[in-house]
Amino acid sequence: YRSLRVALLGGGSVGAQVARLLLEEQEELALRVGAKLELIGIAVRDVNAERTVDLPRELFTTDAESLILGADVVIELMGGIEPARTLILQALGSGADVVTANKALIATHGPELFALAEQVGAQLNYEAAVGGAIPIIRPLRDSLAGDTVLRILGIVNGTTNFILDQMDSTGATLEDALATATALGYAEADPTADIGGYDAAQKAAILAGLAFHTSVPIDSVYREGITGITAEQIASAQKAGYVVKLLAVCERVTDPATGVEGVSARVHPAMVPRDHPLAAVRGANNAVFVEAESAGSLMFYGAGAGGVETASAVLGDLVSLGRRHVAGGPGLGESTHSELPILDISSVSTRY
Ligand code: NAP
Ligand code: HSE
Repeated sequence: YRSLRVALLGGGSVGAQVARLLLEEQEELALRVGAKLELIGIAVRDVNAERTVDLPRELFTTDAESLILGADVVIELMGGIEPARTLILQALGSGADVVTANKALIATHGPELFALAEQVGAQLNYEAAVGGAIPIIRPLRDSLAGDTVLRILGIVNGTTNFILDQMDSTGATLEDALATATALGYAEADPTADIGGYDAAQKAAILAGLAFHTSVPIDSVYREGITGITAEQIASAQKAGYVVKLLAVCERVTDPATGVEGVSARVHPAMVPRDHPLAAVRGANNAVFVEAESAGSLMFYGAGAGGVETASAVLGDLVSLGRRHVAGGPGLGESTHSELPILDISSVSTRY
């Protein structure tokens, strides 16, 4: 039974929640991993900035490079390409495993990062990079690894789904709906990445790569955002029995001109029939609808963003990595440390 030293890069919306949970749930997480997860520091830009979560001041540092040197696992939650890329390369190079939620980085520099991880025998987990809290990376990478994925239809951007849903349910204009999304904290101060479809395109590249066992460069993803969508278009789609959604579509296709088989990944507004499961995805939620040869249709649904929701996926990745470090740690079906009693409840509710 030993301790795993965890360095956190970033203490913002997601990072602060990860730090809080690591501290508050330390005992339970230690039992699940088979080793204590010791948070050794949090690298930020400004150690004196006001934080939404009350965390011990002494954990904060601006020296990310020194912090990762002493870590067994590095969690990158800074976002952006640099310095996140260089720090992750340094962490992997020093033998640490890495967890990240950084879809921009995985979509643009994934091959470089995974190649190094493989070379040094380290692991790089990124469940939170697509769909926030929704488990979708590991289901595609592991659970469906024996199947043939035919198509993925994803609502992978919460901000645009919220805007389109507002337009559909209240008749609001795009500008009004965006203002509501900003006021509620869903949209970033600069919402270009969301409404322009860039964020969804990064996620589409990641999903397509996993689903079709190939590398999908971000520039090969066709991208169209929701900026041109009008209240009139939403209303006429509604009349015809459709709802407009910004979809990430990843599919196996045959080029009609050449007969060549390949894959296509694209992001664009689409008309979804009102009785399709994706039509029921309201507000800022996300969902990924997967069609596979043997499994048939599967849908993964839930909160696609939010600090604490995304922290759930990050911690899942961390526990999973931690278990690899601990010889004889709990395996699948063996995490039975809880002493919660099994209760005999006679009055059962049938309303959920
Ligand atoms: P955020 O609130 O902007 O936090 C970023 C954190 O990183 C801040 O603590 C910031 O320090 C620190 N940081 C940024 N650049 C740095 C640098 N050069 N050196 C040291 N520290 C630096 O971001 P977030 O929303 O938590 O997102 C983090 C990651 O999760 C991103 O990759 C994002 O795409 C991904 N993600 C977020 C969500 C979500 O709902 N927020 C959902 C899924 C995935 P200061 O605090 O001092 O400024
Ligand atoms: N801006 C993103 C969204 C955050 O609205 O879905 C989660 O990746």
